[in-house]
Amino acid sequence: MKLWGGRFTKSTDKAVDDFNSSIRFDSRMYKQDILGSKAHAKMLGKCGIIPVEDSELIQKTLLEILEDIENGKVEFEVEAEDIHMNIEKILISRIGDAGKRLHTARSRNDQVALDIRMYLRDEAAGIKQMLIQLETTLIELAEKNYDTIMPGYTHLQRAQPITLAHHLSAYFQMFKRDLERLTDCTKRMDVLPLGSGALAGTTYNIDRKMVAEELGFSSITLNSLDGVSDRDFAIELASCLSIIMMHMSRFSEELILWSSLEFGFVEMDDAFSTGSSIMPQKKNPDVAELVRGKSGRVYGSLITLLTVMKSLPLAYNKDMQEDKEAIFDAVDTVKMCLPVFTRMIATMKFRKENMYKAAQGGFTNATDMADYLVKKGIPFRNAHEIIGKMVIYCIEKGKAIEELTMSEFANFSEVIKDDVYAEISLEKCVSGRNIPGGPAEESVKVSLDQGKKFLKEIE
Ligand code: ARG
Repeated sequence: MKLWGGRFTKSTDKAVDDFNSSIRFDSRMYKQDILGSKAHAKMLGKCGIIPVEDSELIQKTLLEILEDIENGKVEFEVEAEDIHMNIEKILISRIGDAGKRLHTARSRNDQVALDIRMYLRDEAAGIKQMLIQLETTLIELAEKNYDTIMPGYTHLQRAQPITLAHHLSAYFQMFKRDLERLTDCTKRMDVLPLGSGALAGTTYNIDRKMVAEELGFSSITLNSLDGVSDRDFAIELASCLSIIMMHMSRFSEELILWSSLEFGFVEMDDAFSTGSSIMPQKKNPDVAELVRGKSGRVYGSLITLLTVMKSLPLAYNKDMQEDKEAIFDAVDTVKMCLPVFTRMIATMKFRKENMYKAAQGGFTNATDMADYLVKKGIPFRNAHEIIGKMVIYCIEKGKAIEELTMSEFANFSEVIKDDVYAEISLEKCVSGRNIPGGPAEESVKVSLDQGKKFLKEIE
């Protein structure tokens, strides 16, 4: 018999049971469901809505059920549809009428809205810790590489010299914003929907604030229709998770390129690479590739959620049961990617000589050469043109700018003196850019120090 079976004269078709049931994916919210019910029962007792003895018995039994679930002693039933009714059914089977009083002044609609908020709140906190770990690793790596010169790119063409510390610190900034976004998104999960009932609240004189406090929510929802039908918080979380994956995917893409023979900037640790079943020489960056690939999966969840919610009339509709697999998969995927990604970057080796060599090619100091002329009084546009011609000349001669002799320089401008060599060295190109946010050691240090402070405060 279904908990809602009174109005029915036939039992549910087996196919409908399977189709309708969400227990195979919502059972993971068992703890949130039990803690939510426990707080609800406590409140019902305190407000005199159910007898205090029943309230206490319900609370005690719910904790026993929790323990049994955790010890693998409970089997959920598809016929009981979802985690909410499975647990209520078990409760009733153990304590009879007292258990039947639990669902007073409550609906599964506000119950599920509560459970999913509690579940995602916990998951978001866990993901934040993983991001903090990644950020800590990035700072450690960056601090070892203030003077590791490498080319910075635009259009994947060598552009200007930077340092590895500066490059890593760029990712630090991205993941820092991800942390901030998660913190912000969590605020909107931190609102108790219980008390919204099915859609129109309840006539019982319940104490929603007490339940909120009991469950660690900062406030309560202010409209019962909205309380049961809002899934913005899940969409926001999926969006935060998508951006995290996008950032990891960009980083992965670079590491895949950098570990190719063509770049040779990094070598992945053997423990974080895989081989080929046919080509004996191969060492592939599968971890980075999988992270890149899985980003698509998380974006997919975001689109699923947006599409499920699109056009839904108020208030609850069963469509909303489809929110769970999408958001759970997004959460699981990010939780799987972050730690392995962090360990992969912590263990890789940077080929500093190759980075330096790459920065020496491609005329990465051409801007600095133009700036040299500007500092001697030549307008920038003219300087740009002169150096453009100088680059053509260098390509013909197979030389780098700093390999030109003073007499070759003289053909381009008479303002060039032999101080030019020091001014266009890769080291000077980097150290000269010591403005806030720049690649010079002191600038990167300032931004990393701020980063460390941020991490301390967020923990
Ligand atoms: N399993 C349902 C869900 O995940 C719970 C709420 C069901 N409510 C209802 N009125 N059918 O959305």
